[in-house]
Amino acid sequence: MRTIVSLPGDGIGKIVLPEAIRLMEAAGFTANYVHGDIGWEYWKTEGNALPQRTIDLLAEHKIGLFGAITSKPKDAAAEELAPELREKGYVYSSPIVGLRQHFNLDISIRPCKAFEGNPLNFIRRKGSNDFEEPPVDAVIFRQNTEGLYAGVEWTNPPQNVYEAFTTHPKFKNFMNVPKEDLAISTRIVTRKAAQRIAERAFDYAKRYGYKSVTICEKPNVLRETSGMMVLEARKVAEKYPDIPLYETNIDAQMMWLTKNPEDYGVIIAENMFGDIISDGFAGLVGGLGFACSANIGDEVAVFEPTHGSAPKYEKLNPSIVNPIAMFLSACMMLDHIGETEVADKIRNAVASVIKKGEVRTYDMLKLRGGPEAISKGAATTQQMTDAVIKEIVEG
Ligand code: NAI
Ligand code: MG
Repeated sequence: MRTIVSLPGDGIGKIVLPEAIRLMEAAGFTANYVHGDIGWEYWKTEGNALPQRTIDLLAEHKIGLFGAITSKPKDAAAEELAPELREKGYVYSSPIVGLRQHFNLDISIRPCKAFEGNPLNFIRRKGSNDFEEPPVDAVIFRQNTEGLYAGVEWTNPPQNVYEAFTTHPKFKNFMNVPKEDLAISTRIVTRKAAQRIAERAFDYAKRYGYKSVTICEKPNVLRETSGMMVLEARKVAEKYPDIPLYETNIDAQMMWLTKNPEDYGVIIAENMFGDIISDGFAGLVGGLGFACSANIGDEVAVFEPTHGSAPKYEKLNPSIVNPIAMFLSACMMLDHIGETEVADKIRNAVASVIKKGEVRTYDMLKLRGGPEAISKGAATTQQMTDAVIKEIVEG
């Protein structure tokens, strides 16, 4: 039997992940789940939100299913650290970013597909009183380890870094700024990573029949980094003569998001731009309750909903959060390990529950989240899982 590392993390991660496991079991997928410690609790008690033993588990078993973690700003993080660990040089860093970097999970896949009948789907005005619901089906391939989120940054840069910057002609505009008043974040792109994300994107487009690939960057301004992303995408595109490569700029792309989202298939972007576009497209298909993702490397892969730990809903009993983003992330895991039949079964059952519209979580009813949502007709998290399971069993 396959072993999967279960990483519930914090807050609602601990609620939605067990529901996904319950659903997969009902759909016929059984595995041996081993628990991995990750998140705020381990920061507070050990000064490390991603303990080495969790990294070892993933290195051994290769597949992780992750819920969500809580992270807090620097000062709050320092305050919550156990007294005996304070002032010992512990610095908080995000464990999910840590996982991506440690295992080089450089391919992030974020599908944003509208389910028929989802009341949260984007609609567009046609005539004066008429509207249409574009069939959005975009899959964002976000470079997951480099770019602006690589973390190479300084406030008050060290002397040798400062001097290196002074060699750039454009730096003359900053030359008379005191060093302590300078904050610098770098955007690093390597040719290999640019190539890899483009290759995976085209391969996916071909495999799943997407009609186009779009590279979304800003090469007219970010000449070096976006320039390299676009160039490498063009090279890969040559190997796929049947799939056109479109080139868009991130700013214009966000404007077109509501104009013609149905025209996009697979989209490639650098880390930060991919973060932005994937949230944009997710907003058209239901938002955080529906946004799933995969972080894929050569050896290890981790699957997670894109939402966070939503701490304000952690203690609500019964829980009201929407588990569908977690379910769809679990389906991406099943696809990855070759269990596509189970994945399709679950996705079809989710689609059917959404289409019938009888069971809807508070977000789908556009209610304010809170215990009163249930008396207003919202399904609980467990009821949503039950409805999907019922669809599988009776469907
Ligand atoms: P969040 O995604 O946790 O929640 C934002 C809001 O979205 C919630 O208050 C809720 O109204 C809604 N929401 C989220 N998930 C939902 C679901 N499954 N069903 C229905 N509604 C849902 O983001 P927020 O509040 O900015 O951050 C909370 C904590 O999560 C922070 O500590 C943050 O650092 C962390 N975070 C972790 C992420 C991760 O684990 N990958 C990603 C984003 C935030
Ligand atoms: Mg994001």
